[in-house]
Amino acid sequence: MHIDILTVQPDLLQSPFSHSIMKRAQDKGLLNVQVHQLRKWAVNEYGQVDDYQYGGGAGMVMMCEPLANAIEELKTTKKYDEIIYVTPDGKTLNQKITNTLSIKNNLLIICGHYKGIDERIRQKYVTLEISIGDYVLSGGELAAAVLVDAIGRIIPGVLGDETSALTDSFQDNLLAPPVFTRPVDFQGMIVPDVLMSGDHKKIEDWRYEQALKRTQERRPDLMDE
Ligand code: 6GU
Repeated sequence: MHIDILTVQPDLLQSPFSHSIMKRAQDKGLLNVQVHQLRKWAVNEYGQVDDYQYGGGAGMVMMCEPLANAIEELKTTKKYDEIIYVTPDGKTLNQKITNTLSIKNNLLIICGHYKGIDERIRQKYVTLEISIGDYVLSGGELAAAVLVDAIGRIIPGVLGDETSALTDSFQDNLLAPPVFTRPVDFQGMIVPDVLMSGDHKKIEDWRYEQALKRTQERRPDLMDE
């Protein structure tokens, strides 16, 4: 998968993809993330990409031309499955959306800043608008990093253990069961017997039961879906 990201703050997007699973995905050639400085398409020599909003009011708006020129240029090199704008008024991200996106070939993600981007860019180019939750961040970059991480880790072949993404929380609308490692006795708190029984069927049943119980207690809304 190839992901292009348009931003005025490329520095914010360096580290998130340079470690752990995201690094492995890229080293394996399964994920390629390219971060583009939007100011490369600025309207003047000062690197301007934003302007005051019509109608007045505080806060700048990201202008049409730099975004349109950037998108048009990138579109000559790739056919995008989705052009995604990360914005608090988008559809709230969930595992179903990340699953769907993880099997695409080319994605373009636009990070907004200030008051957001000119509405006409959304109308003309954007095919999917994503929020990562009901709170406001100072820019779209951290949301884009969350989105790419959530997508990247489930690209087929990225995780060493092929089944491990399937047992994550939210796959099947269930939270993950509790997990334990050494020692067996931590300050008198003992690992459940069943996990040391060696009986894989029993362990699987126990984990499913625990996942149901945990979801019922913490996120009953997931079970209604
Ligand atoms: Cl995608 N962007 C910003 N700026 N804030 C957010 C968000 C996105 N999702 C939740 N809050």
